Amino acid sequence: MIRCEHVSKQFGAVRALSDVSLHIAPGERVAFVGSNGSGKTTLLRSIVGLVRVGGRVTIDGIDVALTPEQALARVAYIPQIAPPLDAPVREVVRAFAALRGKTPDDVAGYAQRLGVELAKVAHTRFRDLSGGTKQKILAAMALAAQAQVLVCDEPTANLDAAARKAFFAEVDQRPPDAILVLCSHRIEEVRQLVDRAVLLRDGRLVSDGRVEDQLAVGEVLDA
Ligand SMILES: Nc1ncnc2c1ncn2[C@@H]1O[C@H](COP(=O)(O)OP(=O)(O)O)[C@@H](O)[C@H]1O
Ligand SMILES: [Mg+2]
Repeated sequence: MIRCEHVSKQFGAVRALSDVSLHIAPGERVAFVGSNGSGKTTLLRSIVGLVRVGGRVTIDGIDVALTPEQALARVAYIPQIAPPLDAPVREVVRAFAALRGKTPDDVAGYAQRLGVELAKVAHTRFRDLSGGTKQKILAAMALAAQAQVLVCDEPTANLDAAARKAFFAEVDQRPPDAILVLCSHRIEEVRQLVDRAVLLRDGRLVSDGRVEDQLAVGEVLDA
């Protein structure tokens, strides 16, 4: 379903990704792991069409760079860094819900289960929320989209234990053919969420396999 073919990315002198190829099938839950700067975010961003890369990324055979709207119709994304939006939470949620054919109440339900009462922050500027609250609302919006593919960048980084548990429970509710692609520099935080781990080092894919087997690769735990 998701296919990265020889994906490479250079930022000035930094080679962020070097010839990464991988394939993710329906129903798979995959973590990209590796230390800071290993290329995890760049690889995720290449999948959601946010960075122009060498090589090719396709979703269901549709090229993400050539026809992003079509390729990404069934993809939801939780970024690592929340956009500094000036708009109040209510407007952000309303716009997002409209874009996805959902209602603000759909988002509010997910937000509540993650520990945020949307009504209480409706008039707060999105950028003024705490890091954890931003992350919960971004996660609630992405979950509410009920997209077949959920792409999350360090999804649990700003979450407290209760919210992390709630997020895991929501991910577990997704249908069997749903795909989860996330990245984390701490596999221990996300290992319950995934079946497969892809280890990146200096922009290269160095190992890829079942998460239990990958845990035997010391670097996966050290990242
Ligand atoms: N927009 C950018 N401009 C310049 N360098 C970047 C940019 N994004 C990432 N990089 C560099 O590319 C490398 C990989 O970054 P990233 O994919 O964010 O790694 P990770 O998510 O694994 O920490 C790092 O050296 C980082 O500094
Ligand atoms: Mg990152």
